[in-house]
Amino acid sequence: MLSYRHSFHAGNFADVLKHLILINILEYLGKKEKPFTCIDTHAGPGDYALDSEFALKNKEFENGITRLWQRTDLPDSVAHYVKVIKEFNNTETLSRYPGSPLIIKQFLRNKDCLFLYELHSTEIQLLTAAVNRDRRIKVFHADGLKNSVGLLPPKEHRGLVLIDPSYEIKSDYEQVVETLIQMHKRFATGTYALWYPVVDRSRNQQLEKAIKSSGLKNVQLFELGIKTDTHEHGMTASGMIVVNPPWTLAPEMQQTLPWLADTLAIEGAGKYRIETLMGE
Ligand SMILES: C[S@@+](CC[C@H](N)C(=O)[O-])C[C@H]1O[C@@H](n2cnc3c(N)ncnc32)[C@H](O)[C@@H]1O
Repeated sequence: MLSYRHSFHAGNFADVLKHLILINILEYLGKKEKPFTCIDTHAGPGDYALDSEFALKNKEFENGITRLWQRTDLPDSVAHYVKVIKEFNNTETLSRYPGSPLIIKQFLRNKDCLFLYELHSTEIQLLTAAVNRDRRIKVFHADGLKNSVGLLPPKEHRGLVLIDPSYEIKSDYEQVVETLIQMHKRFATGTYALWYPVVDRSRNQQLEKAIKSSGLKNVQLFELGIKTDTHEHGMTASGMIVVNPPWTLAPEMQQTLPWLADTLAIEGAGKYRIETLMGE
Protein backbone atom coordinates (compact mmCIF):
# COMPACT_ATOMS: atom_id res chain seq x y z
CA MET A 1 0.00 0.00 0.00
CA LEU A 2 1.29 3.46 -0.85
CA SER A 3 1.68 5.86 2.05
CA TYR A 4 3.71 8.70 0.49
CA ARG A 5 1.88 12.05 0.36
CA HIS A 6 3.55 14.84 -1.57
CA SER A 7 1.58 17.42 0.45
CA PHE A 8 4.31 17.20 3.14
CA HIS A 9 6.92 18.30 0.62
CA ALA A 10 5.16 20.64 -1.83
CA GLY A 11 7.22 23.68 -2.80
CA ASN A 12 10.44 22.42 -1.19
CA PHE A 13 13.90 22.80 -2.78
CA ALA A 14 13.39 19.59 -4.78
CA ASP A 15 10.12 20.88 -6.26
CA VAL A 16 11.87 24.14 -7.16
CA LEU A 17 14.45 22.35 -9.32
CA LYS A 18 11.98 19.83 -10.76
CA HIS A 19 9.39 22.43 -11.72
CA LEU A 20 11.94 24.93 -13.03
CA ILE A 21 13.22 22.29 -15.45
CA LEU A 22 9.68 21.21 -16.29
CA ILE A 23 8.83 24.82 -17.20
CA ASN A 24 11.93 25.17 -19.41
CA ILE A 25 10.92 22.05 -21.37
CA LEU A 26 7.26 23.09 -21.68
CA GLU A 27 8.24 26.54 -22.92
CA TYR A 28 10.43 24.97 -25.54
CA LEU A 29 7.70 22.56 -26.68
CA GLY A 30 5.26 25.46 -26.94
CA LYS A 31 7.51 27.40 -29.32
CA LYS A 32 6.59 25.24 -32.31
CA GLU A 33 3.14 25.17 -33.86
CA LYS A 34 2.93 21.38 -33.88
CA PRO A 35 0.93 19.99 -30.95
CA PHE A 36 2.68 18.19 -28.09
CA THR A 37 1.67 15.45 -25.67
CA CYS A 38 2.73 15.26 -22.03
CA ILE A 39 2.61 12.22 -19.81
CA ASP A 40 3.01 12.63 -16.05
CA THR A 41 3.50 9.09 -14.73
CA HIS A 42 3.33 10.07 -11.02
CA ALA A 43 1.00 13.04 -10.91
CA GLY A 44 0.19 13.47 -7.20
CA PRO A 45 -2.90 15.48 -6.13
CA GLY A 46 -2.03 18.52 -8.27
CA ASP A 47 -2.92 21.37 -5.91
CA TYR A 48 -1.40 21.97 -2.46
CA ALA A 49 -2.61 24.33 0.28
CA LEU A 50 0.47 25.57 2.10
CA ASP A 51 -1.56 26.19 5.26
CA SER A 52 -2.69 22.55 5.44
CA GLU A 53 -1.56 20.41 8.37
CA PHE A 54 0.52 18.34 5.92
CA ALA A 55 2.47 21.31 4.56
CA LEU A 56 2.84 22.89 8.01
CA LYS A 57 4.26 19.71 9.59
CA ASN A 58 7.83 20.39 8.46
CA LYS A 59 7.24 23.62 6.48
CA GLU A 60 9.52 22.36 3.72
CA PHE A 61 8.24 25.07 1.38
CA GLU A 62 9.98 27.65 3.58
CA ASN A 63 13.32 26.44 2.26
CA GLY A 64 12.04 26.37 -1.30
CA ILE A 65 9.46 28.63 -2.94
CA THR A 66 9.18 30.96 0.10
CA ARG A 67 12.86 31.94 -0.15
CA LEU A 68 12.35 33.03 -3.76
CA TRP A 69 8.91 34.61 -3.56
CA GLN A 70 9.82 38.22 -2.64
CA ARG A 71 13.24 38.49 -4.24
CA THR A 72 13.87 40.94 -7.03
CA ASP A 73 17.31 39.63 -8.07
CA LEU A 74 16.26 36.24 -9.46
CA PRO A 75 18.03 34.70 -12.47
CA ASP A 76 15.69 34.68 -15.50
CA SER A 77 14.63 31.02 -15.25
CA VAL A 78 13.88 31.33 -11.53
CA ALA A 79 11.94 34.55 -12.17
CA HIS A 80 9.89 32.70 -14.76
CA TYR A 81 9.24 29.80 -12.39
CA VAL A 82 8.14 32.18 -9.60
CA LYS A 83 5.87 34.00 -12.09
CA VAL A 84 4.13 30.70 -12.90
CA ILE A 85 3.57 30.01 -9.18
CA LYS A 86 2.33 33.60 -8.67
CA GLU A 87 -0.12 33.26 -11.56
CA PHE A 88 -1.42 30.10 -9.93
CA ASN A 89 -1.89 31.92 -6.60
CA ASN A 90 -3.44 34.86 -8.44
CA THR A 91 -2.24 37.18 -5.66
CA GLU A 92 1.07 38.34 -4.16
CA THR A 93 0.41 36.11 -1.12
CA LEU A 94 1.86 32.63 -1.31
CA SER A 95 -0.84 30.27 -0.07
CA ARG A 96 -0.98 27.46 -2.64
CA TYR A 97 1.51 25.49 -4.66
CA PRO A 98 0.73 23.81 -8.01
CA GLY A 99 1.91 20.26 -8.59
CA SER A 100 3.25 19.14 -11.96
CA PRO A 101 -0.24 18.48 -13.46
CA LEU A 102 -1.37 22.06 -12.89
CA ILE A 103 1.95 23.52 -14.01
CA ILE A 104 1.73 21.54 -17.26
CA LYS A 105 -1.91 22.58 -17.64
CA GLN A 106 -0.82 26.25 -17.64
CA PHE A 107 1.29 25.56 -20.75
CA LEU A 108 -1.22 23.49 -22.74
CA ARG A 109 -2.64 25.04 -25.87
CA ASN A 110 -6.00 23.85 -27.21
CA LYS A 111 -4.27 21.35 -29.48
CA ASP A 112 -1.96 19.84 -26.82
CA CYS A 113 -2.85 17.05 -24.41
CA LEU A 114 -1.85 15.65 -21.03
CA PHE A 115 -2.14 12.13 -19.59
CA LEU A 116 -1.93 11.84 -15.80
CA TYR A 117 -1.37 8.68 -13.76
CA GLU A 118 -1.82 8.36 -10.01
CA LEU A 119 -2.11 5.19 -7.92
CA HIS A 120 -2.96 6.48 -4.44
CA SER A 121 -6.70 6.22 -3.74
CA THR A 122 -7.00 9.61 -1.98
CA GLU A 123 -4.61 11.49 -4.28
CA ILE A 124 -6.45 10.35 -7.41
CA GLN A 125 -9.68 11.91 -6.13
CA LEU A 126 -7.92 15.18 -5.31
CA LEU A 127 -6.21 15.13 -8.70
CA THR A 128 -9.44 14.54 -10.59
CA ALA A 129 -11.03 17.50 -8.80
CA ALA A 130 -7.93 19.68 -9.35
CA VAL A 131 -7.81 19.27 -13.14
CA ASN A 132 -11.52 19.97 -13.28
CA ARG A 133 -12.88 18.37 -16.44
CA ASP A 134 -10.48 19.72 -18.99
CA ARG A 135 -10.99 18.03 -22.35
CA ARG A 136 -7.24 18.17 -23.05
CA ILE A 137 -6.46 16.14 -19.92
CA LYS A 138 -7.05 12.46 -19.16
CA VAL A 139 -6.59 11.11 -15.64
CA PHE A 140 -5.93 7.43 -14.93
CA HIS A 141 -6.07 5.67 -11.56
CA ALA A 142 -3.33 3.27 -12.66
CA ASP A 143 0.37 2.47 -12.49
CA GLY A 144 2.07 5.18 -14.55
CA LEU A 145 5.23 3.20 -15.18
CA LYS A 146 3.47 0.11 -16.51
CA ASN A 147 0.54 1.69 -18.30
CA SER A 148 1.82 4.81 -19.99
CA VAL A 149 4.29 3.03 -22.31
CA GLY A 150 1.38 2.03 -24.56
CA LEU A 151 0.57 5.71 -25.25
CA LEU A 152 3.86 6.13 -27.10
CA PRO A 153 4.64 7.40 -29.62
CA PRO A 154 2.18 10.30 -29.56
CA LYS A 155 0.48 11.04 -32.89
CA GLU A 156 2.50 14.18 -33.62
CA HIS A 157 5.80 12.69 -32.38
CA ARG A 158 6.41 15.63 -30.02
CA GLY A 159 6.26 15.38 -26.31
CA LEU A 160 7.50 15.03 -22.77
CA VAL A 161 7.27 12.23 -20.24
CA LEU A 162 7.78 13.32 -16.64
CA ILE A 163 8.68 10.43 -14.34
CA ASP A 164 8.51 11.54 -10.72
CA PRO A 165 8.28 8.55 -8.37
CA SER A 166 8.43 8.80 -4.59
CA TYR A 167 10.94 5.89 -4.50
CA GLU A 168 8.89 4.44 -1.65
CA ILE A 169 9.49 1.05 -3.17
CA LYS A 170 13.24 0.54 -3.60
CA SER A 171 12.74 -1.39 -6.87
CA ASP A 172 11.58 1.95 -8.35
CA TYR A 173 15.26 2.74 -8.99
CA GLU A 174 15.55 -0.20 -11.39
CA GLN A 175 12.02 0.03 -12.74
CA VAL A 176 12.41 3.63 -13.88
CA VAL A 177 15.38 2.71 -16.05
CA GLU A 178 13.59 -0.30 -17.57
CA THR A 179 10.57 1.89 -18.31
CA LEU A 180 12.73 4.62 -19.86
CA ILE A 181 14.31 2.06 -22.17
CA GLN A 182 10.91 0.68 -23.24
CA MET A 183 9.54 4.18 -23.81
CA HIS A 184 12.58 5.27 -25.75
CA LYS A 185 12.29 2.23 -28.06
CA ARG A 186 8.79 3.37 -29.01
CA PHE A 187 9.50 7.12 -29.09
CA ALA A 188 13.20 7.83 -29.51
CA THR A 189 12.87 11.58 -30.14
CA GLY A 190 10.73 12.31 -27.07
CA THR A 191 11.98 14.26 -24.09
CA TYR A 192 12.04 12.34 -20.81
CA ALA A 193 12.59 13.93 -17.40
CA LEU A 194 13.30 11.60 -14.50
CA TRP A 195 13.38 13.02 -10.98
CA TYR A 196 15.56 11.44 -8.28
CA PRO A 197 16.31 12.12 -4.61
CA VAL A 198 19.72 11.79 -2.98
CA VAL A 199 19.15 9.96 0.28
CA ASP A 200 21.77 7.24 -0.05
CA ARG A 201 24.38 8.28 -2.64
CA SER A 202 25.20 4.66 -3.53
CA ARG A 203 21.68 4.25 -4.98
CA ASN A 204 22.26 7.29 -7.20
CA GLN A 205 25.56 5.89 -8.39
CA GLN A 206 23.76 2.67 -9.36
CA LEU A 207 21.02 4.63 -11.10
CA GLU A 208 23.54 6.65 -13.13
CA LYS A 209 25.47 3.49 -14.00
CA ALA A 210 22.27 1.84 -15.22
CA ILE A 211 21.44 4.89 -17.37
CA LYS A 212 24.95 4.89 -18.85
CA SER A 213 24.70 1.23 -19.85
CA SER A 214 21.08 1.48 -21.07
CA GLY A 215 21.86 2.50 -24.64
CA LEU A 216 20.02 5.83 -24.17
CA LYS A 217 21.71 8.77 -25.87
CA ASN A 218 21.72 12.52 -25.26
CA VAL A 219 21.21 12.37 -21.50
CA GLN A 220 21.98 15.24 -19.13
CA LEU A 221 21.86 15.42 -15.35
CA PHE A 222 21.03 18.46 -13.23
CA GLU A 223 21.33 18.25 -9.46
CA LEU A 224 20.86 20.69 -6.61
CA GLY A 225 22.02 19.93 -3.06
CA ILE A 226 21.45 21.94 0.08
CA LYS A 227 23.24 19.77 2.65
CA THR A 228 26.31 17.58 2.79
CA ASP A 229 25.50 13.95 1.88
CA THR A 230 24.85 11.83 4.94
CA HIS A 231 22.90 8.71 5.85
CA GLU A 232 21.19 10.46 8.76
CA HIS A 233 19.55 13.60 7.44
CA GLY A 234 17.15 12.34 4.80
CA MET A 235 17.22 13.98 1.38
CA THR A 236 20.33 16.14 0.94
CA ALA A 237 19.98 16.82 -2.78
CA SER A 238 17.78 15.93 -5.72
CA GLY A 239 18.06 16.06 -9.46
CA MET A 240 16.58 15.52 -12.86
CA ILE A 241 17.97 13.22 -15.53
CA VAL A 242 16.77 14.51 -18.88
CA VAL A 243 16.85 12.52 -22.13
CA ASN A 244 16.76 14.67 -25.29
CA PRO A 245 16.72 17.96 -23.37
CA PRO A 246 15.95 21.20 -25.20
CA TRP A 247 19.24 22.86 -26.18
CA THR A 248 18.23 25.80 -23.97
CA LEU A 249 18.23 23.75 -20.77
CA ALA A 250 21.95 23.28 -19.99
CA PRO A 251 22.90 26.96 -20.58
CA GLU A 252 19.96 28.03 -18.45
CA MET A 253 20.98 25.67 -15.65
CA GLN A 254 24.59 26.98 -15.82
CA GLN A 255 23.15 30.39 -14.86
CA THR A 256 20.63 29.07 -12.37
CA LEU A 257 22.09 26.21 -10.35
CA PRO A 258 25.08 28.06 -8.79
CA TRP A 259 22.69 30.79 -7.66
CA LEU A 260 20.11 28.34 -6.29
CA ALA A 261 22.81 26.33 -4.50
CA ASP A 262 23.94 29.53 -2.74
CA THR A 263 20.44 30.76 -2.03
CA LEU A 264 18.86 27.55 -0.73
CA ALA A 265 21.92 26.10 1.02
CA ILE A 266 21.71 25.14 4.66
CA GLU A 267 24.81 26.23 6.60
CA GLY A 268 26.67 27.01 3.39
CA ALA A 269 26.58 23.41 2.14
CA GLY A 270 24.91 24.14 -1.22
CA LYS A 271 26.20 22.28 -4.28
CA TYR A 272 25.16 21.43 -7.79
CA ARG A 273 26.02 19.13 -10.67
CA ILE A 274 25.54 19.62 -14.40
CA GLU A 275 26.75 16.59 -16.32
CA THR A 276 26.31 14.90 -19.65
CA LEU A 277 25.68 11.24 -18.78
CA MET A 278 25.49 10.21 -22.46
CA GLY A 279 26.40 12.24 -25.52
CA GLU A 280 24.24 12.54 -28.68
C1 LIG B 1 6.54 12.73 -5.87
S1 LIG B 1 4.83 12.53 -5.95
C2 LIG B 1 4.37 13.33 -7.44
C3 LIG B 1 4.51 14.83 -7.43
C4 LIG B 1 4.13 15.50 -8.72
N1 LIG B 1 4.71 14.87 -9.89
C5 LIG B 1 4.52 16.96 -8.72
O1 LIG B 1 5.60 17.32 -9.23
O2 LIG B 1 3.74 17.77 -8.23
C6 LIG B 1 4.67 10.84 -6.44
C7 LIG B 1 3.23 10.37 -6.59
O3 LIG B 1 3.25 9.12 -7.31
C8 LIG B 1 2.23 8.27 -6.81
N2 LIG B 1 2.64 6.91 -7.22
C9 LIG B 1 3.50 6.06 -6.64
N3 LIG B 1 3.71 4.98 -7.43
C10 LIG B 1 2.98 5.18 -8.56
C11 LIG B 1 2.81 4.46 -9.78
N4 LIG B 1 3.45 3.31 -9.98
N5 LIG B 1 1.99 4.96 -10.72
C12 LIG B 1 1.33 6.14 -10.52
N6 LIG B 1 1.46 6.88 -9.39
C13 LIG B 1 2.28 6.40 -8.43
C14 LIG B 1 2.22 8.56 -5.33
O4 LIG B 1 0.98 8.21 -4.78
C15 LIG B 1 2.50 10.07 -5.29
O5 LIG B 1 1.30 10.80 -5.27
